[in-house]
Amino acid sequence: MSGPDRAGRPAAVPPAGPAAPGSGAPGPGVPGPAAGRGAVAGGSATAVRFRSLLDALAPIGRDPASGGYRRFGWTAADLACREWFAGEAAARGMDRTVDGNGNLWAWWGTPGPGAVVTGSHLDSVPNGGAYDGPLGVISAFCAVDELRDRDVTPARPVAVVAFADEEGARFGVACLGSRLLSGAIERDRALALTDADGTSLADAMRAAGADPRAAGADPEVLGRIGAFVELHVEQGRGLVDLGAPIGVATGIWPHGRWRYRFAGEANHAGTTRLADRRDPMLTFANTVLSARKKARLAGALATFGRVTVVPNGTNAVPSTVDGWLDARAPDEVTLQELVAAIGQAATERGQRDGVEVAVSTESVTPAVAFDPTLRQRLVAALGGGAPELPTGAGHDAGILAARVPTAMLFVRNPTGVSHSPAEYAADADCVAGIHALAAVLEDLAG
Ligand code: GLV
Ligand code: MN
Ligand code: MN
Repeated sequence: MSGPDRAGRPAAVPPAGPAAPGSGAPGPGVPGPAAGRGAVAGGSATAVRFRSLLDALAPIGRDPASGGYRRFGWTAADLACREWFAGEAAARGMDRTVDGNGNLWAWWGTPGPGAVVTGSHLDSVPNGGAYDGPLGVISAFCAVDELRDRDVTPARPVAVVAFADEEGARFGVACLGSRLLSGAIERDRALALTDADGTSLADAMRAAGADPRAAGADPEVLGRIGAFVELHVEQGRGLVDLGAPIGVATGIWPHGRWRYRFAGEANHAGTTRLADRRDPMLTFANTVLSARKKARLAGALATFGRVTVVPNGTNAVPSTVDGWLDARAPDEVTLQELVAAIGQAATERGQRDGVEVAVSTESVTPAVAFDPTLRQRLVAALGGGAPELPTGAGHDAGILAARVPTAMLFVRNPTGVSHSPAEYAADADCVAGIHALAAVLEDLAG
């Protein structure tokens, strides 16, 4: 797989928020891509393992038309990814456990408190890329391999984790596995969420052989996590602009999802005078434009990336349009004001159009500042030169940060493109990420 070269794109997140003080170059403690032990022909052992794990996942849930991934929670593609995880755990003699929320764990050492946990997720957005999520899980397994190659015996248990349904592509709420585990979403509300076909999370779990009665906050499993470090492909152009392969996250912008229902009146496209229409598409379109303008003025982000239209006929004025707003901002007040202003604009426009507007909140994630002590430990373990930077992308690490010491490593994304089949990271940078993660695990677990 080769990456597109689209240098010059604007950053996915404006360079606002906490300062990014790094030098822009990896520190002396960040080994280069070929620094792993046990080099084999064609590259280091780590480079070869990385490529082989990524290639093994590559066909799973890949949409041949777009080349993107459709690995939605509890679908056949998700189950195939789960089997892949089980195989990788078994190949390493790691004990695999599955918690009541469908999160997968592979243990090096006895499961118990004080564990150093690393991993990410295996599900995807619609037509997602190969790296968002899987890179963190693959890197976790490869970092364990690297430590074992070096005969490191960790004093604390180390666990690789793959959280369930991080993207929320099927049931609407992101980070369901980590939210349920940590009690950030109420169990009954989560189990009652439905997908586009009306299947509930509870039924989807049952159909996949999981028992939804076991879902919910799990203090015992959560209590095992002494520290969580998630490695992730960067989803903007922060590192490429700094010329650094690896960075440490400072925090995550507050963000959320809101469902807008625009209800008008279905009618004939060829006979209904414009003045007589109650067209929800018109109100929706104006709301999209208004959200864009208000976000720009606030230094924030607002996106309507999903829409359903009823009856969805070329020659019919729609009766209903549902649109989902994703909004993110550098701080919580800006986010609240932005979301309120978009809602008000939609309602006012709806009154002009004869369209009723109803807004419901699907999820809100507050601002996250990663644990400062753990962050500093990561920076030090990487030799002191790794840049620190914020992100507008959500992660399981952001959910867990409210409950356990949590940090993140980012791997350079040369185009900044993510949530797209064009998402890409160079193998050499991914291998540098694995070396960095191994150094962090050795420091934290050693
Ligand atoms: C997850 O990738 C998100 O930020 O929506
Ligand atoms: Mn994502
Ligand atoms: Mn992700």
